[in-house]
Amino acid sequence: IKDTYLTQVAAAADGDALEAVRVAALGKKGEISLLLKTLGKMTPEERQSEGPKINGARQAVADAIAARKDAIESEALNAKLATETLDLTLPPPARPAGSVHPVSQVMDELAEIFADLGFSVATGPEIEDDWHNFTALNIPDTHPARAMHDTFYFPQTDDKGMPKLLRTHTSPVQIRTMMDVAERTGGDGEPIYIIAPGRTYRSDSDATHTPMFHQVEGLVIDRNIHMGHLKWTLETFVRAFFERDDIELRLRPSYFPFTEPSAEVDVGFSVEQGRRIIGGDARSNEGGWMEILGSGMVHPNVIRNCGLDPDVWQGFAFGCGIDRLAMLKYGMDDLRAFFDGDLRWIEHYGFDA
Ligand code: PHE
Repeated sequence: IKDTYLTQVAAAADGDALEAVRVAALGKKGEISLLLKTLGKMTPEERQSEGPKINGARQAVADAIAARKDAIESEALNAKLATETLDLTLPPPARPAGSVHPVSQVMDELAEIFADLGFSVATGPEIEDDWHNFTALNIPDTHPARAMHDTFYFPQTDDKGMPKLLRTHTSPVQIRTMMDVAERTGGDGEPIYIIAPGRTYRSDSDATHTPMFHQVEGLVIDRNIHMGHLKWTLETFVRAFFERDDIELRLRPSYFPFTEPSAEVDVGFSVEQGRRIIGGDARSNEGGWMEILGSGMVHPNVIRNCGLDPDVWQGFAFGCGIDRLAMLKYGMDDLRAFFDGDLRWIEHYGFDA
């Protein structure tokens, strides 16, 4: 019996054939299984002589089946590996590419435009303290400008007991930059030409305001800087950004605690082919002015607060909403959509990387 099954096991060509042999020999009603059952009815002497033979046969056949099973499986795997090929020259399936958010795009454009004018990019923390965001900028505790900023305060103060807040504008980067220079030069100072783009926060929300928005700060500190430099710089920037040479600026007297004098800056717009565009004749019938930024000559108190001598160093600063620049240049009308994360919006307004 044993030899018969061993021959059949060796001859089994595949898993099904092998399983059929297993059932016939070792299955519930298999020949060897039935033989094992007869042991119970034997006399002790018979059992002693037949038991080892039958059990030996069962074990031998079971071992042979297991070995054959491994062999069949590895043959199948080898056959599969021999026929399968991997074509590394096939193009991979297309994946959605993603795109550059208009805010990032505008920040890049600003960095490029100002780099040509000799400005580098500075950054500062979004979590600020009261001193950098307000006090050093000549906005004392009691100043009404604090209330106007709709500030998000943190419930705890920092480890020096100073109120912490989300910066309401990028102007604290002016402070950090000037203080760094004062420290590095031992109070002597050196020329500063920076822009500081970044996130800013105010508790405000409608079609043109979101609690988080973006500003770009500009700061120039040098000797003998005056309003003419401010106006030329802004004009050059706006014309490069909107890609038109016929853009006029209008400086309106204004007030910021950290600049004196201060000016709000409007760009002229006109209407071409039924569309409002920045540039052209602002004094024409359909033309007009729209405010794009705040600016002024850095207040001597601010320069002094940073450890520099305002009799040696003067400069100008400006702060401009980046989201608004993007809306004007690329034609979006609802600021909230900028930050909704709707893929259809970014597919429509996004830029190639
Ligand atoms: N920080 C001002 C604001 O957010 C803008 C500004 C910056 C004005 C620099 C003057 C100089 O409204």
